[in-house]
Amino acid sequence: MKEKNIRNFAIISHIDHGKSTLSDRLMEIMGTVNQRESAPQLLDSLAVEQEHGVTVKARTVQNIYEGSNGEKYQLNLIDTPGHVDFNYEVSKSLAATDGVLLLVDATQGVQAQTVANWRLAHDLGLPMLPVINKVDSPNAKIPEVKQELLDLDASLSQRPFYEVSAKTGQGVAALIEGIVKYLPAPKGDENAPLKALVYDSEFDPYLGVIVQVRIFDGKLNKNSKLELMASNRIFKVKEIGVYQPARLPVKELVAGEVGYLITGIKETADVGVGDTITTVADGIKQALPGFEKQQPLVYAGFFPQDDYQLLKEALQKIALNDSSLAISEENSTAMGPGFRIGFLGIFHLKIIQERLEEEYGLKVTVTSPNVPYKVRLQDSQETKIITNPAHFPSFEKIESIAEPMMTAVIDSPAENLDRVMQLAEQYRGTFQDMDNEGNRVRINYRLPLAEIAYDFYNQLKSISHGYASLQTKPDGYEVSDLVKVEIHINYAKVDALSFITHRSKAAVLTQKLVHELKMTIPRRLYPMPVQAVVEGKVLARIDVPPLRKNAAVNGEQHSISKKQALLRRQNVNKRTAAHSDIELPQAVFNTLLALK
Ligand code: GTP
Repeated sequence: MKEKNIRNFAIISHIDHGKSTLSDRLMEIMGTVNQRESAPQLLDSLAVEQEHGVTVKARTVQNIYEGSNGEKYQLNLIDTPGHVDFNYEVSKSLAATDGVLLLVDATQGVQAQTVANWRLAHDLGLPMLPVINKVDSPNAKIPEVKQELLDLDASLSQRPFYEVSAKTGQGVAALIEGIVKYLPAPKGDENAPLKALVYDSEFDPYLGVIVQVRIFDGKLNKNSKLELMASNRIFKVKEIGVYQPARLPVKELVAGEVGYLITGIKETADVGVGDTITTVADGIKQALPGFEKQQPLVYAGFFPQDDYQLLKEALQKIALNDSSLAISEENSTAMGPGFRIGFLGIFHLKIIQERLEEEYGLKVTVTSPNVPYKVRLQDSQETKIITNPAHFPSFEKIESIAEPMMTAVIDSPAENLDRVMQLAEQYRGTFQDMDNEGNRVRINYRLPLAEIAYDFYNQLKSISHGYASLQTKPDGYEVSDLVKVEIHINYAKVDALSFITHRSKAAVLTQKLVHELKMTIPRRLYPMPVQAVVEGKVLARIDVPPLRKNAAVNGEQHSISKKQALLRRQNVNKRTAAHSDIELPQAVFNTLLALK
C-alpha cells in the first residue's frame, strides 16, 4: 500500500488501563476479527499473560480500514510489552511505529508506567494522541485526568483528547478517524536499499525463528538473500507476510509496512531484537541505531521439586522463545542438581517460574536471586564474572569485587522529592543531577543493580502513591566493599543460602536474617544453631528450637535419669545431622529475598 495510507502505531499505558481491551475493540470495529474471536483478549496469547493480564510478547496486527473520505488505510497496531523488565523490547517496538496512543484510565489518571512509557515515546520523538479510557465508569474523572496529561506534556493540547470506553466501544470509531488524521504516515523510500528493523522474534520448532520487521526503506520479497547486520548472519527468506491476526503470506513488504519474516534460522542467538536486516547484494552499510544484546541482570538457582529431566526439557523449550534467558547446569550440595538461570529482572524470573508450573506442571524451588559480580584475585590482572555466590573464591584470595551499576532516571511529582532522595540514598545511590518539568522532577541517580533489582521500584511506587516512574540502564561495574555471607545450619555450610552484601549492611542484615530463619527452617528433634558467617567470623547466631521438649531446657520437669536419657538421644541425633541434610523449603529463600 502507498505510504500515505499506512499508519504504524502502538498503544502505551499503565498496567490495567485497558490496552488489551482497546486493541480488541479496534480490531473488531475495523472488522479484522469478529466479536466472538476477540474474547478474551486476543493479543495476549501466552497462558501467563492471560493469568497476569499483562502483555509480555509484542505482536502486530494489520487492520484494513475504509476512512470516512472513502480511502483505504492500513492501520498496523503494534503491541508492546508493558513492564519495566522489558524496557528494551518496549523501546524497540516503539521504534517500529510512527506515533502512539497514550492511554489513561479515567478512574486512575496518569500513573507510573504512563509516565515511563510516555518518556520512551517522547525520547523517540513520536507524536502522541491522548486517549482517556473507561469513560463509562461512574468513577471517571475526565477533566482531572486531562489536566494530569497536560501537566505531563503540555504539547498534547495540540491534538484532541479522545474519550472512549474500550468496554462498550463508545468513542472508538472516532478514535480510529483520529489515528488516520493526526498520526503521521511513514516516510521511507521504496527504491532505496532495504533497511528493516527486527523489533520482535519468536521461535517455531518447524519454521525456525520468525521475526517481526518494520521496513524503513526498500522492498522485501521472497527471493531476497538477506543479512542480519549485527550478527552477520546471511539467510534466505522462507516466507513473508502480515498478521491479520493469523499469519497471512504476502508477496512483498515495502517501505512503511510491518510484517513477519520466516528466516528458517534455528539458532535463536543469531537473531536479536533491535538488529537491522538488509539485502546481501547492494545492501545498506550503516545499521539502524541502538542494537544491544540483552544481558541477564539477575541470576537464581532453579531446583526441581519433581523430575530433573522434565525440568531440563521444559527450560530448553522455553529458552527457544526467550533468547534473553541464560541457562546453565548447577550442582548444589544442599539442593542437588538444578539450573542457574539469568533473567532480565525479577518479574521475568517470576514469569518463567509460573510458565514452568502452568504450562509444564513443574514445581521448582527458586533460590534468592543475585546480580553477577566481577571478582579479581590477588596477584592477577584478570577478573572473572561470577553469577553464583556459592562459587566465590575464599575471601583471603580476593583482591576486589566489582558490582554492576545502573543509571536510574526517576520521574516523580515534585512534592515527593525529599522522600525519593532519601530512598535512593538508603539504596546506596549517588545523586547525579536533576531537572524540573512543571510540577514534576526528573532525578538522575547512579545505583548498584543489587540494590534496585528486587524491591526498589515497589518502594518508589509506595512513597509516591504510584506516581513516580523509574527507568534504568546498565552503567558498567564498580569496585565496592562487598562481602559474602555464608549460612551454616547445624555447623554445616549451606551453599544455596550464600549471598553477597555490602560490608556496611552485613551486621544488621545477618541479625535480622537469623531471626527470620528461626521461623522458616523446618525444626528437628534437637536444637539447631543457625550462623551467619562473614570472612570466617560468626556475625549472628540463633538456635532453631527443637520439635520436642528439650531435656537441657526443660530439665526441672524430669527426673535425672529421664533427663540423661533425653540428652543421650539428642546427642545421637546431633551426630547424624552434623552434615547438611537440612530440607530447604521455598519459604527459607523467600526470607532471604524479603530482607534484601
Ligand atoms: P495489561 O495487559 O496488564 O497492560 O492491562 P491492559 O492495559 O491491557 O488492561 P485490560 O485491557 O486487561 O483491562 C483491565 C481491566 O479494565 C479489565 O478488567 C477490563 O475489563 C477493564 N476495562 C478496560 N476498558 C474498560 C472500559 O472502557 N470501561 C470499564 N468500565 N472497564 C474497562
